Amino acid sequence: MEITLVLIKPGGVSRSLIGEITKRIEARDLKVVGLKLMNAPRATVEEHYAEHKERPFFASVCDYLTSGPVVAIAVSGVNATKAIRAMMGATNPLDAAPGTVRGDLALTIDDNLTHSSSDPEAAARELALWFPEGTV
Ligand code: CMP
Repeated sequence: MEITLVLIKPGGVSRSLIGEITKRIEARDLKVVGLKLMNAPRATVEEHYAEHKERPFFASVCDYLTSGPVVAIAVSGVNATKAIRAMMGATNPLDAAPGTVRGDLALTIDDNLTHSSSDPEAAARELALWFPEGTV
């Protein structure tokens, strides 16, 4: 059993896709063990994306994640990280297969609707950041 992190980015929240994305997660028999709607502090977002600090898109992705509310979801299940990554689809929605969240619902890499942990180590780090109080 593994716990992993999904963030629904401001574009997903403003397009009222919280239900659609959560429905897909639950339909896969993954369990929601933490869920919050929040205005993310800039410091949290910068720490979350620390590995991208030197990348040209670092400032813009941090601006975007702090431009409106996000939903942080802790998801539990067997191989949850890999299952969620596959469900969300390729980072660039143009490369994402139909049937995935990005392949069905997103068009641009800057507004790719969700973030999901890349591996179990990243999940542990990100969950500690977004759910310091722990999960249910
Ligand atoms: P995410 O999975 O949240 O991780 C970093 C985010 O930066 C990524 O999704 C994209 O939304 C955004 N981004 C913008 N440009 C790029 C790029 N060239 N490569 C990777 N991510 C990018």
